[in-house]
Amino acid sequence: MRITIFGTGYVGLVTGTCLAEAGHEVMCMDVDSRKINGLMNGIVPIYEPGLEALVKQNVAEERLLFTADPAEAVGFGTLQFIAVGTPPDEDGSADLKYVLSVADTIAEHMQEYKLVIDKSTVPVGTADRVSETIAQRLHQRDVDIPFDVCSNPEFLKEGSAVEDFSQGARIVIGCDSSRVEPLMRECYAPYNRRQEKLMFMDIRSAELTKYAANAMLATKISFMNEISNLAERLGADVENVRRGIGSDPRIGYSFIYPGCGYGGSCFPKDVQALARTATDVGYEAQLLNAVESVNYRQKASLFTKLSQALDGDLEAKTIAVWGLAFKPNTDDMREAPSRELMEAIWAAGGKVRAYDPEAMQECRRLYGERDDLTLTKRRDDTLEGADALVICTEWKAFRTVDFRRLREQLTTPAIIDGRNLFNPESVRAAGLLYFAVGRADSLRIPLPGGDGAPQARVGQNGPSVAYTL
Ligand SMILES: NC(=O)c1ccc[n+]([C@@H]2O[C@H](COP(=O)([O-])OP(=O)(O)OC[C@H]3O[C@@H](n4cnc5c(N)ncnc54)[C@H](O)[C@@H]3O)[C@@H](O)[C@H]2O)c1
Repeated sequence: MRITIFGTGYVGLVTGTCLAEAGHEVMCMDVDSRKINGLMNGIVPIYEPGLEALVKQNVAEERLLFTADPAEAVGFGTLQFIAVGTPPDEDGSADLKYVLSVADTIAEHMQEYKLVIDKSTVPVGTADRVSETIAQRLHQRDVDIPFDVCSNPEFLKEGSAVEDFSQGARIVIGCDSSRVEPLMRECYAPYNRRQEKLMFMDIRSAELTKYAANAMLATKISFMNEISNLAERLGADVENVRRGIGSDPRIGYSFIYPGCGYGGSCFPKDVQALARTATDVGYEAQLLNAVESVNYRQKASLFTKLSQALDGDLEAKTIAVWGLAFKPNTDDMREAPSRELMEAIWAAGGKVRAYDPEAMQECRRLYGERDDLTLTKRRDDTLEGADALVICTEWKAFRTVDFRRLREQLTTPAIIDGRNLFNPESVRAAGLLYFAVGRADSLRIPLPGGDGAPQARVGQNGPSVAYTL
């Protein structure tokens, strides 16, 4: 099949490359001509395991083409995938301007039947708006060319996007025309051999399925973070609780890791957008609003704990930060907890020495050169002259640490671990203060009736000291 993809971000580039790898002829179009020029020369603008090799191979075999010319892109494929961004608008709703602009471009240039496929995450009702946009433009052109619009939301995860696309559990397709099913079956046939993965449904259900999936995953994370905050205040260890509930098959172990909050380009904006959709139809989505506000508070908890470790004084302090990406195996820093942390450190007069295995370039792009940010070549170089260490991302490379050496390097011997990477006893045995998530001593909490002086507190792991703030 000849397929056009609009947008060469995480979703568009992975979709285009995987469909080319499956034998289709694919043309990817992007309005960012620098990106397109780079891709034509084998430069992949994002880090995604396995992607670069696949792009190079399929470009070399001439199944994967790139263009910045909209007319060429529209002329190429019978299938026209829309995989552009849907960032949050000011009111939290999904901003559809890029999606609708692609719809308009397709209608402006099409000369024959096109199947337009919404792959971007878009609110319920968007396929109707895409149809209206195309119909309007065709009317203006005074032509009558048949077209269909269908919904095919994407469920890939950054960090394992190629694998997820190729081996995903399901391929959801929302359509309302008999022309769509055979075309989509042919498109996905290479991925539908072992078992039937295609799920055909009405368009609105397909659109809602994507939001429901992300909202459910975000809910699991916020739920666990809520429990971790309780554990901190009750002297319990959330890691024991996690194992205790995860072993129940009705709950399961996935997505119940406590941490410093979810980030990325999807969960925050999709939870907000779904809540906004609910408001638009006169329904107050209480659970979704709570999921979002728990996450907001959780992201701020890194700085709260850091501030407590340094007795509230960050002026001229240097903080080592491990992990900038919102999760491991990606260079994506959109809505990453690290950003909230660094910006709070800077606002308090502190400096940051940071390291991430993949996101350094993205960090430079976001923050540029500044005196209060040093990006180091190696993980342990961040510790030179540092007062404390904060871990924001659970990269594998951060899991093994010589705590005694770390103790010698840090001025204030404190680790604020937003991902619960270590055994608290090993860290403390090296003489370090350890502020993790939902574990004993993770937080110095105000005790009832306290007057600001340290007070003894007995938690599950024996006596500890709590401070009234
Ligand atoms: N990133 C993910 O993990 C993920 C997973 C599933 C779904 N999604 C959804 O997929 C969509 C795309 O996400 P992404 O992360 O790939 O976005 P992205 O920001 O990485 O990429 C979007 C690309 O679209 C391009 N673009 C904008 N307007 C265009 C136009 N008119 N014509 C052609 N290209 C245009 C931009 O230049 C950019 O390169 C979003 O709706 C997102 O919610 C993302």
